[in-house]
Amino acid sequence: MMAPSAPKNSQPATQASDTHTGSDHDGHIMAQLQALRENIERHNYSYYVLDKPEITDAEYDALYQQLLAIEKDHPELVTPDSPSQRVGDLPLKEFQQVTHPVRMYSLDNVFDETELLAWENRMKKALAVSDEEALTYVAELKIDGLAVSLLYEDGKFVRAATRGNGTVGEEITQNVRTIRSVPLKLKSDHLKVGEAFPRQLEVRGEIFMPTKSFMALNEEQRLKGKPEYANPRNAGAGSVRQLDPKITASRNLDAYFYGATILNERGDSYFKTHWESLAFLEKLGFKVNPGKQHCQGQKDILAFVQTWAEKRRTLPVATDGVVIKLDKIAWQSELGYTAKSPRWAVAYKYPPDIVETKVLEVEFSLGRTGVITPLALMQPVLVSGTTVQRASLHNFDELAKKDVRVGDTVLLHKAAEIIPEVLSVVLEKRPEDARAITPPDCCPVCQTPVEKVPGEVALRCPNRSGCPAQVLGKLEHWVGRLAMDIDGVGPALLEQLVNADLVELPVDLYRLSVDDFLTLERVAQKSAENAVSAIAESKKQPLARLINALGIRHIGKETASLLAREFGNLEALLACVDAGDLDRLSGIEGIGLKVAESIVAFFSDEGNRQMLAELKTLGINPQDRYQISVEEMQQLPFFGKTFVLTGTLPTLSREAAAELIIANGGKVSGSVSKKTDYVLAGENAGSKLTKAETLGIMVITEDELQRTIAASTS
Ligand code: IVH
Repeated sequence: MMAPSAPKNSQPATQASDTHTGSDHDGHIMAQLQALRENIERHNYSYYVLDKPEITDAEYDALYQQLLAIEKDHPELVTPDSPSQRVGDLPLKEFQQVTHPVRMYSLDNVFDETELLAWENRMKKALAVSDEEALTYVAELKIDGLAVSLLYEDGKFVRAATRGNGTVGEEITQNVRTIRSVPLKLKSDHLKVGEAFPRQLEVRGEIFMPTKSFMALNEEQRLKGKPEYANPRNAGAGSVRQLDPKITASRNLDAYFYGATILNERGDSYFKTHWESLAFLEKLGFKVNPGKQHCQGQKDILAFVQTWAEKRRTLPVATDGVVIKLDKIAWQSELGYTAKSPRWAVAYKYPPDIVETKVLEVEFSLGRTGVITPLALMQPVLVSGTTVQRASLHNFDELAKKDVRVGDTVLLHKAAEIIPEVLSVVLEKRPEDARAITPPDCCPVCQTPVEKVPGEVALRCPNRSGCPAQVLGKLEHWVGRLAMDIDGVGPALLEQLVNADLVELPVDLYRLSVDDFLTLERVAQKSAENAVSAIAESKKQPLARLINALGIRHIGKETASLLAREFGNLEALLACVDAGDLDRLSGIEGIGLKVAESIVAFFSDEGNRQMLAELKTLGINPQDRYQISVEEMQQLPFFGKTFVLTGTLPTLSREAAAELIIANGGKVSGSVSKKTDYVLAGENAGSKLTKAETLGIMVITEDELQRTIAASTS
C-alpha cells in the first residue's frame, strides 16, 4: 500500500494551547477531536513505526479529512501535537539555537577487529574486570544519518534539535514534526494506574532518508535539471535543515532512536541497562534500530559485526558501521567520557568499499533523449556486494575533470551503496600508452554531428527521429511500467521490430498485426497474439500515462499527472499551447517556467502534432472524464454524489467500482456520514451498512449502479 497521504494544500492552523476550557459544547468537540487524533496517531504508528497498516489509505484519508474539517471550524482548538500539524508550519527566517540539556558526545571509531578488541581490553582494565570475564554489550547498526535530540514534556513532543557542536545545536522542531514515525504524543498503554510520563524526557536518535526515497528524490532532481545529492546522508541533512518545513515534509524522512535520558528527576539511575532503555523507547512508540543485539563478550560482538557486513545492504537505510555500547549503566558512569566521546562505547566502521580496477574502454552511450553519456567499461570487480564492470562518467566535463583514460587504474565505489562511481585515477599506475578520451563530434550511433546545448553540460545527438538509439529508447520508454505499461513487449522484441523496419515511432506499434510479429525470429503464435492484445489494451491508459509516455524533456510521471489533472484531455492541453498560454502552464503548482517552455516546444512541433493526430485516429485519446469541464461533468449520472463502498461486490473489485463511480462524476469516501449519498454494499457488508441504515442513507447494489450508468449513456 502507498503511504497515506496528507493533503498537500491544507494550511496548518495557528497553534493554541489544549488547556482551553469552554462551554459543554466545546468540551464535547474537544473530546471528539482527541479521540480522532488518537485514532489517527495510532494508525500512523501501525503504518510508519510497525510497518503493519491496519486500515486502507482511503480509510486513513477519511479520518484525516474529518480532523481537518473539525479543526477548520475550531481553529482555536488546534494543538501542536495534532496530526494535522505534520504537513509543515510556516517557513522560518532562521534557526534558533538550543543548548542541549545533556551534552551530545561523538564516538571514537575503530577500523578493524584488532582495534575493536584493544578498546574492549582497555575498558576491562579500567573496570578491573578479568580478561576471561565476558561483559554484556549492546551492538547496534550505525545509521548514516543526522543525530537529533528530541524533548518530551509530560509525554508530549515539544522540541527537536540538531547535534551542532555537541553543546549547542539548532532547533528543528517544526521539521521533525513532519516525520510521521516520530511520536507527537507518547504511547501510554503501558503505564500502570497512577503512573505518569516523565516530566522531561530527552530522546536521541538518527534521522535518515531511506535509500528508496533518496533514489526517487535524485530522479526528480534530474528531471527538474537540478543538482543531485551525493548520498542519502547529505540528502537527509539537507532536508532537515530547511527553513520551510513543507519541503522537509515532502522528503519522506524517517528516524531510529537509540538513547533515552530522564532529565532532572530520577537522573540516570532510572535504567539499569542500555538494553532496558531501548525497550522503554519501543514501548513509548519510538522506532528503534532493527539491527541490534544483546551481546556476551567479544565472540558475540564479532559475530554481529560479521553477520551484518553484507546483510546491512538489505535494510532500507544506509549504515556505515556498528556501535558497541557497554550495557550496564553503572559501569558507563564509572568509565565516563574523554573530551569528545564516551569511553564505554565505540563505533566499528565497516571498510569503505573502495576497490581498484582497470578501465578497459570508454563507450559513449545514448538514451531516448539523445544525451551522449561517457561510460567506463572496467575489469569486473566485486564492490559492496555485487560485481561491477560499468560506471557512468555522467558527462564530458566530469570526464575531463577526473581525467579518466583507457588503461588507467581507477578507484571505484558505489555511491549510496548502489550506484557504481569512479572516484579518481591512481596516477602512479597510469601506463605510458593510456589513451585520453575526446568528446565525439558525431553521434556514435547515427553519425549526425552532435550539439552542445547552451547552458547545459550535455552533448546531444540532434537526430531525434532518425537515430536508432533514440528511436529504441523512446519505444522502450513508451512500453514501460510507468508509461503505457505494455506487458510482453520488451527491449529485445522492440529491437527486432525496429530492425525489421516494422516500427519507428510508438504510434507504429498500434498498427501491428499478429502476422507482423510472426515474421520475427523466435516469436510463436501465442506470444504474437499476446503482444497485439497487450498493445490494444494500452489504448485505454489514462492521460497521465500517455503524457509521461511521450517522453517530453523535463517531464516525468509527476508533472504528467499534474498536466492530466489540469487539462483532462490532449485537446485542452493543445489549445492552451496554441494560445501560447505559458502563464496557465507555469501557474500549475509544481510546474516552473523551464518545464512550461519544454511543454510548449514539444506540443508545437509539427512532427509531434502529426503523431498525436495519428494516435487519436488509432483510438488513443484518453478522456479522463472526471477531469473534464464542469459543464460536461454536470451531465454525468453521479455528478456531486458521494459513495461509500462496503462488502464484497459480485463482479467488480473495490478499485474497479471506485473507478467507475469517479468516471461517472461521483466521489468515493471511506466513511459513512450525513454527507454520504449512497452506500454501495456487497456481501458481508459491515458496520458501514449499519451506520447507513441508521442515518437513512440510500443503499444500492452493484447491479443498480451498473443499470444507472447504462441508462445515462443509452
Ligand atoms: S550512540 C554517546 N548509536 O554516530 C553516544 N550513535 O559517530 C553517542 N549514530 O553522533 C551516539 N547510529 O549521530 C549511537 N546506534 C547508534 C548510532 C549512532 C548512528 C551516530 C550519531 C553519533 C555518531 C557518532
